[in-house]
Amino acid sequence: MKGIILAGGSGTRLHPMTLAASKQLLPVYDKPMIYYPLSTLMLAGIRDILVISTPEDLPQFRRLLGSGERLGVRFAYAEQPRPDGLAQAFLIGRDWIEGGPCALALGDNLIHADHLSTLLRAASHRPQGATVFAYQVRDPERYGVVSFDKTGRAVEIVEKPAAPQSNWAVVGLYFYDSQVSDIAASIRPSARGELEITDLNRVYLQQAALHVERLSRGCAWLDAGTPDSLLQAATFVQTIQSRTGMLVGSPEEVAFRMGFIDGDALREQARQLGKTDLGRALMELAESAAP
Ligand code: TTP
Repeated sequence: MKGIILAGGSGTRLHPMTLAASKQLLPVYDKPMIYYPLSTLMLAGIRDILVISTPEDLPQFRRLLGSGERLGVRFAYAEQPRPDGLAQAFLIGRDWIEGGPCALALGDNLIHADHLSTLLRAASHRPQGATVFAYQVRDPERYGVVSFDKTGRAVEIVEKPAAPQSNWAVVGLYFYDSQVSDIAASIRPSARGELEITDLNRVYLQQAALHVERLSRGCAWLDAGTPDSLLQAATFVQTIQSRTGMLVGSPEEVAFRMGFIDGDALREQARQLGKTDLGRALMELAESAAP
């Protein structure tokens, strides 16, 4: 399976921070924001990754991520001229997807959960249909909201409802089968002029092919799109890392654990990060795993 990271948008809720800088390159504690969704896709076993951003910001993502060789993955890059909606990713990426299955991760979303790799692998290996993840939030009206019948089956999915039928928000990580580009091509812009991912998900729901995985209370899902959530995300990462010694959102670590790179390559990454805590943690990981 291939994967797309959508890292464009206008980032208006983070103005003035995003007037001259891309939101997804802002720091979330000790890493650029895009490292978190990148790590998530890699944890799903995805090694072909298309980064989509605005024409102005795309060169900075190339500079940060390069070819992907150092992480044992392959990056491709594409421009989204205007923020015309999340589902547009599959039209921009259509040729690159080559008619296969594809995942989408939003560039400002952070997911941290026990057994996340098991959930992700199951989603990426599902041969047919789509998999989305739902998370209980206090402010569902800000998100796509999914409601369930008594048996727990998803029955409805609505974008930013004024009167939400549930508090289950759809998180910014989606796995689709090979129909995805054709379905994206069939949907029309919403009243706000965007190709909505919720409309794409609704097509799968109508086909009874939408798997909704409910994330439990032990999971954390944060989107870093406002000053408060950006600070919360940073504090979250700092707390977990300093308390447990485990890294959150390190693509270098994930690359090593997934077997995309070997210990020597990890050591080289650690060396390049120099005397940072991150560099030290990666070096320790490389040393502890050495034969
Ligand atoms: P949003 O947070 O919904 O939008 P935004 O980033 O433009 O921010 P704001 O509401 O503050 O103006 O977008 C979610 C993610 O998807 C974010 O990482 C930006 C990205 N995105 C695109 O890349 N292209 C798009 O067309 C849209 C709508 C969002």
